[in-house]
Amino acid sequence: MLKIAPSILSCDFANLGKEVNDMKLAGADLIHVDVMDGHFVPNISLGLPVVASLRKSTDMFLDVHLMISDPLTYGPQFADAGADMVVFHIESDSPPQAVIDAIKSKGKKVGISLKPKTAAQEVFPYLDQLDMVLVMTVEPGFGGQKFMADMCPKLEIIRRECERLGLLTMDIQVDGGIDNNTIAAAYSAGANVFVAGSALYGKPDYKKAVDELREHARS
Ligand code: DX5
Ligand code: ZN
Repeated sequence: MLKIAPSILSCDFANLGKEVNDMKLAGADLIHVDVMDGHFVPNISLGLPVVASLRKSTDMFLDVHLMISDPLTYGPQFADAGADMVVFHIESDSPPQAVIDAIKSKGKKVGISLKPKTAAQEVFPYLDQLDMVLVMTVEPGFGGQKFMADMCPKLEIIRRECERLGLLTMDIQVDGGIDNNTIAAAYSAGANVFVAGSALYGKPDYKKAVDELREHARS
């Protein structure tokens, strides 16, 4: 199923509750929350209290993308704060299996994210335990960067491996540079969950922006 996931990184943080609710009214499927620690990536965004406040203010599915060095310590804390799914980077300092176990023990969904230079095969040993794989189509850290079309073969390889393993409902997410011009390439390569920050929050009419993005995926 095709899902549109606005990234609040590009929203007006002084009006966070409204910005999330407006995307719900616009027909978004989930909310993508970018957490950056200034160490794993060269930027700092938001942390646990913001996720806890979001949880109180919305029933939208909260997809929390941890761009942090220590997801083993903090992943379970984001689960407790109200994340519905915690996605961590395979390139972090934490052992992936331990992070998966820690998130699942909280009863939450779990995903693994791959930076552009990381091979698709790195995630293969964990696929059958995951709810989602996130293929970064920019170097993580900042919104508004250019979509890396050369990540499409990685999407194809992961989708094919999921099919081979019978994981037919696996969500494959793309994040970075998704807009009306780039979404079709990612969709036809096998992605079905589309993060968009600047292409949605940068527009005056959120419903029109969400609808257009959805339409362009299949174009
Ligand atoms: C980048 C973040 C993205 C970012 C995407 O490191 O993970 O979620 O918000 O922003 P756009 O859609 O503007 O590329
Ligand atoms: Zn993200």
